[in-house]
Amino acid sequence: MVYMLFGISTKKDDDWWIGVTALDTPHLSKYESLMFQGNGYLGIRGSLEEHYLNEKRDMFVLGTFDKFENEATELPNLPDIVNIEIQVNGKLLSLNHGETTDYQRGLNLRNGEIIRSFNWQNGKDKLHFEFRRFVSMSNCHLFVSQVKITPLSENVRLQIKSGIDGQQTNSGTQHFVEANKRLFNARFVQMQTQTQNSLVKFALTEYHRLFLNTSELILNPRLQLERRQIFANYSIDVEKNKCLTFVKYADVFASNDKDLQVNVSKDCLKQLEHVGREDYQKLLADSTRVWEDKIWQNSSVEISSHNNKPQIAVNYARYQLFANVPRDYSKNIGAKGMTGEGYKGHAFWDTEIFMMPFFMMNIPSYAHNLLIYRYLNLIGAQKKARQGGYHGAQFPWEAAMPEDAESAPLWGSADIITGEPMKILSGETEIHVTGDVAFGVYQYIKNTGDQEFARRMGYEIILQCAKFWASRVSWNVSIDQFEIIDVIGPDEYKEHASNNAFTNYMVHWCMRKGAEIITQLRRDDLITYDKLDKKMDLSKLFKELILKTSKLYLPEPNNKEIIAQDDNYLSYPRINVDKYRASDNVSEIFRDFDLKQLDKLQVTKQADVLLLLLLFEDDFSKDIIKKNWDYYEPKTIHDSSLSFSTHAILANDIGLYNKAFEYFEKNCQIDLGTNMNSSVKGIHMAGLAGTWKIVIEGFGGIRTGKEGLQIQPHIPSTWNSLKYSIVWQGKRIKVLVTHTSFSVTSDEKFEFSYHDHNYHVEPKEKVLIAI
Ligand code: BGC
Repeated sequence: MVYMLFGISTKKDDDWWIGVTALDTPHLSKYESLMFQGNGYLGIRGSLEEHYLNEKRDMFVLGTFDKFENEATELPNLPDIVNIEIQVNGKLLSLNHGETTDYQRGLNLRNGEIIRSFNWQNGKDKLHFEFRRFVSMSNCHLFVSQVKITPLSENVRLQIKSGIDGQQTNSGTQHFVEANKRLFNARFVQMQTQTQNSLVKFALTEYHRLFLNTSELILNPRLQLERRQIFANYSIDVEKNKCLTFVKYADVFASNDKDLQVNVSKDCLKQLEHVGREDYQKLLADSTRVWEDKIWQNSSVEISSHNNKPQIAVNYARYQLFANVPRDYSKNIGAKGMTGEGYKGHAFWDTEIFMMPFFMMNIPSYAHNLLIYRYLNLIGAQKKARQGGYHGAQFPWEAAMPEDAESAPLWGSADIITGEPMKILSGETEIHVTGDVAFGVYQYIKNTGDQEFARRMGYEIILQCAKFWASRVSWNVSIDQFEIIDVIGPDEYKEHASNNAFTNYMVHWCMRKGAEIITQLRRDDLITYDKLDKKMDLSKLFKELILKTSKLYLPEPNNKEIIAQDDNYLSYPRINVDKYRASDNVSEIFRDFDLKQLDKLQVTKQADVLLLLLLFEDDFSKDIIKKNWDYYEPKTIHDSSLSFSTHAILANDIGLYNKAFEYFEKNCQIDLGTNMNSSVKGIHMAGLAGTWKIVIEGFGGIRTGKEGLQIQPHIPSTWNSLKYSIVWQGKRIKVLVTHTSFSVTSDEKFEFSYHDHNYHVEPKEKVLIAI
């Protein structure tokens, strides 16, 4: 049975399916984003095989950025391989015509297969269609799709056109030069092309097989070449009740692939000649096995609740995170992954602060890759620091290729007062990202115990960041302290903040950690010390860090225990923000105010001070957290998908359990909810990571702060139990939480604390604790 979950339909008895029961053409883009398929290399939006108005076909390969002068660098939208055009007795299959019944389209979250079926009647012809397709998890270059067509009323003549369509653009920008297009061995259509400026070469090859019931038809296609397009055409007579199966095998290679053997064209063809011998089911089974054995086995979360909404939401979140995370270290994960053109494939602080916990506690090797990328990105970050007149490494607010200094665009949407495009200052002043990257590196080292990474790369990243901060802070004579002026904090509605509390605390942490690392290396690891000393003059840096850490201004809680978001925030007028909080539309507030006005109001875009309190919770009492929650939560309009998860976790921590669940549900609905505009340009990767964070760090109570591993769970009243596993210092730990107790077990020995009690757990011992 199908019923509505959030906005999209799901099945009551299936925790792994999201779908729709009607075509819903006005909202195609939302479903294209939601039904994204990917494998961390190749990503394809869930566009339909036949064309519709409003569609936005996108296919990306991670790490293949291209840039035109005066435009931001972006992942180029590759030639489309999803298209299949079908004519029945000369009439084009389009669900805008004729009558469609029993329509169902869904994404199986277990293995990323999209299945669509319906009956279509046009005139006297009635046919049954079933489309299936997947992006392979076992072969990163491969996409396979299959359509079964059964005439139900008459014999029909079917014409099928399928191929590689390079007339795609990134919202109008054509990143590819005209291609070499040709047929190989009478059956394989191939397109070779190249990005206009970054000169990344691509080859895409397609091969088709047709079956009538179970017998294969050996048909050579009629080739059709157009500008940037190559299609294969087939024409077949099919008798009533016989089933024609059309299978499309397609693969994509890029010249910067790490596994390239000869060249893109040859590799692409050779692979398809081999893979094309297998049938759809076998290739799907290979891919499903990787999802099962590598992914689901290593990231389990089971929620028993009054309905399966939370389970579906957390499955969906995990599905998208794993479908988008790069499998090699030269790439990062974009704020929208590869699910759409939003944010152009760029990575933000979203990776370290929101997604890192998910990857490092499930499959740490993926977190490791993301951090090696940042190590490579030191080239760009040092360039950026130098350009601003600073030292060390200043990580870009928006990151693309590792050698790029900054990839944030310069201009945004129109100012409602002046009518001119608003300048985007984030690339210049949203500098907290440099602390966030260092923070992510340290979290990874602490959680995994990966000392090799620390010695080879991690410490260097943190020290380079600390060095940047030491050069970025400025002396304020009147307070006799260092301060940090003119920044954008997490609340991007304050464009010229001074002493943004989040930033200052993060900088303080980073410089202090830098000094600690130098002390530790000098004491325990002279080889690493000497290596880094040659690059950074560590004794000079040490002195500077000690001085600047001790004299950096940190906004303390005031007499009402409120930490000022920045120097001026508390003096600004307040406004009623109910209408903006209630609105489904992000940025609704810009209908009434421009950024200059927002700059001077007590309105917060997203968790800012509250995020500081969550990340550094060991340093603040519950009372301070509660007071600041009461102060900032009502002023926060959650215009970023990064906001709800912080609120949900903090609410759970301070005993506001209903609020915590309310924020959890809001978070789940960012993409899966009824707002049909929210995901048009791609889904929200940090929001999805937030779903997992709320479940594991919030309700599951996992923290890895100063005291090591802590488990202090509290599950929502509508849940019966929560069962999950995490990896902590290389050990997989399993936790089962109910309302009255929780149990913890592992195959290895480990320690954790629950409130003030420490527990030593022996291998396979099950420790049961009453709550
Ligand atoms: C948020 C940023 C975030 C970016 C990408 C913006 O709306 O304010 O904090 O990094 O989106 O997700």
